[in-house]
Amino acid sequence: MEKVVLITGASSGIGRITAILLAQHGYIVYAGTRDPSKFTIKLDNLHVIALDITDNKSIKHTIDAIQAEQGRVDVLINNAGYALVSTVEEASEEEMFNQFNINVFSILRLCKAVTPLMRMNSHGVIINISSFLGKIGLPLFTFYNASKYAVEGITDSLRYELEPFNIRVHSIMPGFFNTNFAKGNLVTNDTTLDENSPYSELASNLLPDILAQINGGNEAKEAAELIVKTIEDDTSPARSTVGDKASKFIAMRRELSDEDFERRVKEYYNLNG
Ligand SMILES: NC(=O)c1ccc[n+]([C@@H]2O[C@H](COP(=O)([O-])OP(=O)(O)OC[C@H]3O[C@@H](n4cnc5c(N)ncnc54)[C@H](OP(=O)(O)O)[C@@H]3O)[C@@H](O)[C@H]2O)c1
Repeated sequence: MEKVVLITGASSGIGRITAILLAQHGYIVYAGTRDPSKFTIKLDNLHVIALDITDNKSIKHTIDAIQAEQGRVDVLINNAGYALVSTVEEASEEEMFNQFNINVFSILRLCKAVTPLMRMNSHGVIINISSFLGKIGLPLFTFYNASKYAVEGITDSLRYELEPFNIRVHSIMPGFFNTNFAKGNLVTNDTTLDENSPYSELASNLLPDILAQINGGNEAKEAAELIVKTIEDDTSPARSTVGDKASKFIAMRRELSDEDFERRVKEYYNLNG
């Protein structure tokens, strides 16, 4: 029987390619997006649905509709996310909340909504798209880092809770990927980017490098292929990295002390002031 998949943030980047690849592999895919008109590709078993991941009513409506049409949700891919670029000092309350609302609370909302169905069916797979910045800090990305560290924590804890019900939980940590991430979905705090900000030197040293690395990063298909493999292989690891920089930085993070790692990152991004 074909697996039924719900994926969030499907209108671009990793979400879009994953939805298409899964549909091409015969999965019944529900591609959740804020704006279905952005998803123009038509495939028989690909259903594009309006989904507001910040709204429990919208989530319930979506899950009820899938349940009514298919009788189950086998796989949830929590992919939607964006990065706030701001110093801690300069971020507004709203910017801080929104970062966690999308990257963290939405994952929890969706997990809460699908878990009862998966539990009743005694199987399921949940894949959280995290980031290598879920294990590594960077200045100006404190809120994004904190949100992705939280995704790692959710994955680690939920695995224990759901294992007895035959529900697997995984995290995938991409490195830099050439998607819409830096083009459309990077949210910047105006004060941090202002030339009069006390952090302007840091911003002008770091941000052009990061943007260039994202825009010159790996292709989203690589991440999509790993997501498909993680669904299909029962023995998939709890977390995997994908993309050149993720493997390199995560390996270095494991090997070095906190201080030595920090020194290497400062050298790498020319942050020694
Ligand atoms: N690209 C990278 O370098 C990189 C690196 C590490 C981790 N990641 C992670 O990979 C995931 C996918 O990102 P991507 O690279 O494919 O970027 P993308 O092309 O920008 O796609 C991200 C998707 O997330 C959803 N999204 C963004 N901002 C949102 C908001 N404010 N409210 C609701 N939904 C929002 C959008 O979905 P809809 O418009 O369809 O609703 C968007 O299509 C994210 O979780 C990201 O953090 C990316």
